[in-house]
Amino acid sequence: MNLKIAVLAGDGIGPEVTNEALNVLNAVAKHGGHTFTYEDLRIGGVAIDADGSPLPEATLAATLKCDAALLGAVGHNKFNSYPPSQRPEAGLLKIRAELGGYANLRPSVAYKPLADNSPLRAEVTEGTDILFVRELLGGLYFGEPRWWDKEKKLAHNTMVYSEAEVARVAKIAFELAQKRRKKVTSVDKANVLEVSQLWRAVVSEVAKNYPDVTLEHQLVDSMAMHLMNTPRSFDVVLTENLFGDILSDECGVITGSLGMLPSATLGGKVNLYEPVHGSAPDIAGKGIANPLGAILTAAMVLRHSAGLEKEAAAVEAAVQEVLTAGYRTADIARGDYAGQKKVSTGEMSKAVLDAIKL
Ligand code: NAD
Ligand code: IPM
Ligand code: MN
Repeated sequence: MNLKIAVLAGDGIGPEVTNEALNVLNAVAKHGGHTFTYEDLRIGGVAIDADGSPLPEATLAATLKCDAALLGAVGHNKFNSYPPSQRPEAGLLKIRAELGGYANLRPSVAYKPLADNSPLRAEVTEGTDILFVRELLGGLYFGEPRWWDKEKKLAHNTMVYSEAEVARVAKIAFELAQKRRKKVTSVDKANVLEVSQLWRAVVSEVAKNYPDVTLEHQLVDSMAMHLMNTPRSFDVVLTENLFGDILSDECGVITGSLGMLPSATLGGKVNLYEPVHGSAPDIAGKGIANPLGAILTAAMVLRHSAGLEKEAAAVEAAVQEVLTAGYRTADIARGDYAGQKKVSTGEMSKAVLDAIKL
């Protein structure tokens, strides 16, 4: 199996965790005789500094020639006063749009060894296995017009979805649900927003093609609560861009750390893989970032771009194993857990590499 991967490490802890994801991919490639080649490309703050743009033309052109793109994180506090269109995050949004992937898969799982890391009681989170399908190319993020008139002291963003945009992402959610527990929860704000009324109508229509899948609709405000009260009751959660951004971070609480959550974006020219977390400026450069979100993201590369399901599952099992063995980066360490082995980013990754059974 040959795979050419664009490596967009980005800012802050992005390069630190991406490096560990690559170590895992290399171990899988070496064992299976696969050839994974990497092209290091600049995006985000490092690209603004070096090239004057958060997404240099060369990065985009090279990524479009790859089979998959693996992104670390973008964002740096020094750009906080920049307008959205010039910030590091604009580079990420542009590459998402150019690659064209609209279905962002964000699994949220409760790991048994981390049950006491969550502020939620173990009996509430135990067995939780949610797959968010976040629409990634529409809604407020990309809607036009958008502006901030500083003289008029007025700003404007637009939430817009077409029927086709909703239908294509809904289709992916139902297909994924068919392979899981056959339930889709579609999240909207249909009691207030026309966009959500369209969303609900289109999702209901698409559901007719999947009679084996149960569809329920939830309003986003109460959904935020249900996710914390009864997380186990959800299977696939389908939602628009901003609601999905917020709810998927919220589910970091179920897992115990945002640093554990992976994602894959499908449906475009090149699949884009990125952990859910950001550049974490508060811990960048210290060697303490949790690499497991990035490593689980590498597992999604193996599953969705390399067709190596067995290897993907082996990486996920290795993550389970190191957690069971007590390996803990700072974000998942606990004062009341005597048996834990407190580890750095690199040590956690090494433990995973040692635990992968291929
Ligand atoms: P963040 O995800 O960077 O950090 C939130 C908190 O979680 C911080 O306390 C951080 O230390 C912790 N955290 C995150 N990842 C971790 C990891 N792997 N290991 C241990 N702890 C981890 O979110 P933020 O602070 O709101 O944003 C910081 C910057 O990142 C902003 O510029 C934001 O726009 C950007 N961002 C980028 C992406 C991306 O590139 N995909 C995603 C989210 C945020
Ligand atoms: C994410 C991030 C991004 C988003 C930002 C950095 C543009 O928060 O991937 O969740 O809002 O989509
Ligand atoms: Mn986010």
